[in-house]
Amino acid sequence: MMTTTNLTVERQAVENGDADHPLGNKRFSAEELKNIRGEDGIIPGMIPARSYYDEDMYKYETDHILKKNWLIVGRWDEAEKPGDYFTRRMFGESIIIIRNKEGKLRAFINVCRHRWSQLVEDGKGNAKLLVCAYHSWTYDLDGNLRGVAMKALPGLDKKDCNLHEIRLEEWQGFIFLNFNPDAEPLAPTLTGLTAMIDKFGLSEFRMLAAHTYETEWNYKFAFETGYETYHHEGVHKDLLAGSSLHFDAFKFGENWGTVRSNLPIEFPHGMPPWLEGDPADCDNELGAIIAGIYPHNIMVITPHRLMWIHTEHWEMTHNRATLGVAVAPWAPNQEADFSIKVHDQDKDGCRLLQKGITSQYNKKSYVHPLESQMAHYYQWFANQFETGHLK
Ligand code: FES
Ligand SMILES: [Fe+2]
Repeated sequence: MMTTTNLTVERQAVENGDADHPLGNKRFSAEELKNIRGEDGIIPGMIPARSYYDEDMYKYETDHILKKNWLIVGRWDEAEKPGDYFTRRMFGESIIIIRNKEGKLRAFINVCRHRWSQLVEDGKGNAKLLVCAYHSWTYDLDGNLRGVAMKALPGLDKKDCNLHEIRLEEWQGFIFLNFNPDAEPLAPTLTGLTAMIDKFGLSEFRMLAAHTYETEWNYKFAFETGYETYHHEGVHKDLLAGSSLHFDAFKFGENWGTVRSNLPIEFPHGMPPWLEGDPADCDNELGAIIAGIYPHNIMVITPHRLMWIHTEHWEMTHNRATLGVAVAPWAPNQEADFSIKVHDQDKDGCRLLQKGITSQYNKKSYVHPLESQMAHYYQWFANQFETGHLK
């Protein structure tokens, strides 16, 4: 049912205390890798429990996985006009995401190059210039230092004082950041996924709601709870019982995977203008799709509505997460209450996962066939934990 990528997590020496790997004796063991992959006929399982609570694991993950992959931080219409900006706080940095005069989005470290004051307060707004709150040094919307307040500073080359830039890419209306200046562009890695969903026109969808809150669990649990529907039979048994039987693992790429609903297609908000013919003849091509773009981007896509979760990475088990809802321009009259209600139940699920994961008895876990996409995700992580520092 699931097509896993051919991950090559090759291990020549898998001995505890491996001096060549930054994780040392916390590196995944041969037994743990076998468990993740489901080798020798065993049922595949999760990545080791310590990946969700051990600070050494989190440091590796931050430096070599999270900061080297593309992370959603918001949507295009959160900074729609020239000068519109918003900030996010991740990995100890405040980042300002701003639309320049030419209409292009850019991301900068939100710190002044004079004496390192935070440049603008965390939040959102519109600016013609970015003026430092402390001594009023001034930057344009492309991060260039334009002026030093009061008097010139002899010997200063302004070009040395531009704001530090972070890689930004837009895909389907999402704003992604990558902290690795040498990262490969995102879009070429998602061509298979793009082909599946392009018809929905997601880059035209507009924000309906953003529900932002602080978490007390590892961000991977939020992703995982979004990626599988098997938990509908427990966490959502009053609202969604039985629905897990209607979702099948679908298509996979190296860094992404999808699950598709086979429930009858409904258009409660009108018909999409791009739809030709009878939707009943579409062979389920319009069914809801859950798409995961590893490591932290999870979304649910339907023709009229888009939902996603993104995380601002603070600490191992303390982050800020946002449940976002956006709607198609032809179906603006929707509400987000039910989604938030379901999501509140997911938060309870994540809280319990974090409580359970620290038990020292956690050695063998099991991926059920109704959540088989999780095996693909765990194998991707195994590969990242093994080779992330080599990139
Ligand atoms: S710290 Fe920004 S102008 Fe001095
Ligand atoms: Fe859920």
